[in-house]
Amino acid sequence: MIEADFLVYHAGQLVTLKGPPGPRRGPISPSSLSILPDGAMAARAGRIVWTGPTDSAAREVGLLPSAAEQDAGGRVVTPGWVDSHTHPVFHGTRQEEFAMRAAGADYEEIAGAGGGILNSVRRTRLATSDQLESTMLLHASNMLRFGTTTLEAKSGYGLDLDSELRSLEAIASVSRSSSQTILATFMGAHEVPEEYRGRPDAAADYLAYLVDTVLPVVKERGLARFVDIFCEKGVFSPEQSRWFLERASAMGFELRMHADEFHDSGGAALAAELGALSADHLLCVSNAGIRALASSATVATLLPGTAFFLGKPYPPARELLDAGAAVALATDFNPGSCFCESMPFMVSLAVCQVGMTIEEALVAATVNGAAALGVADTKGSLEPGKDADFVIWNLDDYRSIAYHLAVPDVEAVYTSAQQAVPRASGRASGDPKTGA
Ligand code: NIG
Ligand code: FE
Repeated sequence: MIEADFLVYHAGQLVTLKGPPGPRRGPISPSSLSILPDGAMAARAGRIVWTGPTDSAAREVGLLPSAAEQDAGGRVVTPGWVDSHTHPVFHGTRQEEFAMRAAGADYEEIAGAGGGILNSVRRTRLATSDQLESTMLLHASNMLRFGTTTLEAKSGYGLDLDSELRSLEAIASVSRSSSQTILATFMGAHEVPEEYRGRPDAAADYLAYLVDTVLPVVKERGLARFVDIFCEKGVFSPEQSRWFLERASAMGFELRMHADEFHDSGGAALAAELGALSADHLLCVSNAGIRALASSATVATLLPGTAFFLGKPYPPARELLDAGAAVALATDFNPGSCFCESMPFMVSLAVCQVGMTIEEALVAATVNGAAALGVADTKGSLEPGKDADFVIWNLDDYRSIAYHLAVPDVEAVYTSAQQAVPRASGRASGDPKTGA
């Protein structure tokens, strides 16, 4: 008899995603979701201790006197989403740029003219730490409403020591008090800040500043597990990215990379060569980049919301899967290129637009997202030993998560076997001076 202090039962489909450790590679068959019809799951101290058919629970699970029980009423239960790529710390929205794009302007043109990331940097530098924290909390809460129980959060709208540290501290502070698991990434290498522009070696000088002055403090204060860089034409070259990431790795950071988003610059192959946990975006990845990812441990993280939001072609998911790569899905939530916290919407896009099957999309948004964050031992599937982070859906078939487009079907979200309630609601803030 297994002792437990929590039991959820009568899940019409308990989508466990049970399987071998680590990411799933290549095409995914429906049977590999390991679905239990009329399933039940027991947990103790927030960890899953048992899954099985509801009618075996009484025989196999001994509930402690204080145990909580939840009848799922025939609904679908899945693991919580693992959103492995988000930029939720910034101040001020960019709806004016959105309107310009709606009227025909191009995202890269706007960025080239001093808008884009630098627009958010100007506002973020002026914001108070409290404002940064409330933005982070608002968007993390919105993610929770859509079922995200684990997320990665990047800095990268400060681009100097003070504002980058304050951004990471905002992530740390929300993470400490949150029911979600939040993992921080230092992304000071998101863009070259204005004060460096005009120098002959602006990008290289700025990266040297990050390595000499910023990264040591981030490390010493334990503010980030990962380091990321925007390897892109006009931002940081592959050579500069290699130089920077090698130094970050030597300091003990795990690596991730924005790779081949708008142009192919060999970013995917570089990420694989450097042993990055993940190469992200990949809208323009080459065949050689696809092969490099398929034969490495680096996860290919696709962000279809960004292609959708910017009106760009979708990433070559089918080619990546067929080559044997491990594919993850994430939101890329940020104020410029994807202002959307919804993982179910990303799953729908992956299925309707990117050419992934429903099962591939579900695996990509859970198990493979966990692998992309190096937390596959505790997150991403519902199996004994992992955290009891799950979603009860107001649906009776898991395929409806993708099929019922852009509609909130989340009934309840649990983290560590406790119902998680969003702590913030409201509007995205605009003016850094007034906080309005
Ligand atoms: O991941 N690609 C670089 N960074 C973000 C966009 C940031 C912005 O526009 O503010 C991204 O899409
Ligand atoms: Fe991004």
